[in-house]
Amino acid sequence: MKHIIWSTGHKLKFDNIIDSDNCFLFDTQGRKLIDLESGVWCTCLGHNNKRLNKLITDQINKITHTGFCYCHPQIEATAIKLLEINNFHGGKCEFMCSGSEAVEYGMRVARTLSDRPLALAFSDSYFGSYGDAATKADQMWFIYDRLNCSCNQKNTGCTGECEEFNQIPFEKIGIFALEPGSSSGLVRFPDPQLIEKIATRIHENDGILLSNEITTGIGRTGKWFGYQHYNIQPDIVAMGKGLGNGYPVSATAISKQLAEKLSQHAFHYSQSHQNDPLGAIVAGEVIDIIKENNLIDAAEFNGNYLKENLQRLKQDFSVIKDIRGRGLMLAIEFSSQADRIFEELLNKGFIVAKRSNAEVLRIDPALTIEKETMDLFLLAFHDILSKLAKDNF
Ligand SMILES: Cc1ncc(COP(=O)(O)O)c(C=O)c1O
Repeated sequence: MKHIIWSTGHKLKFDNIIDSDNCFLFDTQGRKLIDLESGVWCTCLGHNNKRLNKLITDQINKITHTGFCYCHPQIEATAIKLLEINNFHGGKCEFMCSGSEAVEYGMRVARTLSDRPLALAFSDSYFGSYGDAATKADQMWFIYDRLNCSCNQKNTGCTGECEEFNQIPFEKIGIFALEPGSSSGLVRFPDPQLIEKIATRIHENDGILLSNEITTGIGRTGKWFGYQHYNIQPDIVAMGKGLGNGYPVSATAISKQLAEKLSQHAFHYSQSHQNDPLGAIVAGEVIDIIKENNLIDAAEFNGNYLKENLQRLKQDFSVIKDIRGRGLMLAIEFSSQADRIFEELLNKGFIVAKRSNAEVLRIDPALTIEKETMDLFLLAFHDILSKLAKDNF
């Protein structure tokens, strides 16, 4: 790849992938790889989903892109579906092209409607590659370190019962941007008591709760959205990744109350592919496929299967420090050697995620992963751990 900048920060391992089927990738030599990361957590229905392919092909032969003064009726139909799964009856949606953009759109709505100067976020949350939330600029944000406070006794993070929490300047905060569970890709879930306390304080101040569901949404955690593991109702939800199953579509949904307030402002945001029909049509079909095939339940079931088997391996191999996750968003934390285990899995054809500077491997396969594929992974992982234990003996 001499002519690609490749600025993602990740090392390119294969430059010859030309075909795919659900969790399998095939290279130019016909070698099979097993993708347990769904690309970049996107292909929730698996690669090369035939039903989606047919829909996309049919739509390409009709119309893919519209303009600022005309649109396709399907954007309204998909918006209704998204609002329904978010319990935002009477709310509104906008379609965009990436997760970063959906978060940025949500922040622009929130800043327009908030009459307080600051937004609150946790220091370990990730919001995308650009924009207000990504930059977390000092004069606009209060960043709370929920992992280093005096009530963090059991290593589960802040529960909102410490001096540090009491010092959060809620009187200046009008927005809470929550990432409910990925935490910079390390799969750490904020404590429910903390989230519910913050949500209550924000709403008491007439503030806005934005849930960043780019990774935790569209069934990944065994519910439609990550915030549904908490007793809260956001006002803005940003969705991406799985929403297009690899097609670049994202969306921001807002509650009816916020939509009414927004209509009283001269709110403006426009780019060339906003509300394009192809993306909205793909998103609508992804939702239907998930519903018709009970894939939210499948994410929970398959996630539990993997988690239980990984817990068993943890009992036998002390190099495993922690197994955590919700649904099919899983992390394996090691005391050391994560780089080596990652490379050995790759040599055996298994793609998982490894973040630099963390002894953590992440597994986020398609919701459609088959039991045989999970068993293949568990066997390969067991073999690698056994070899490692022997080498270190
Ligand atoms: C939690 C979270 N938010 C936002 C984004 C940004 O999404 P995108 O890469 O589609 O712009 C990502 C991407 O990894 C993410 O993990």
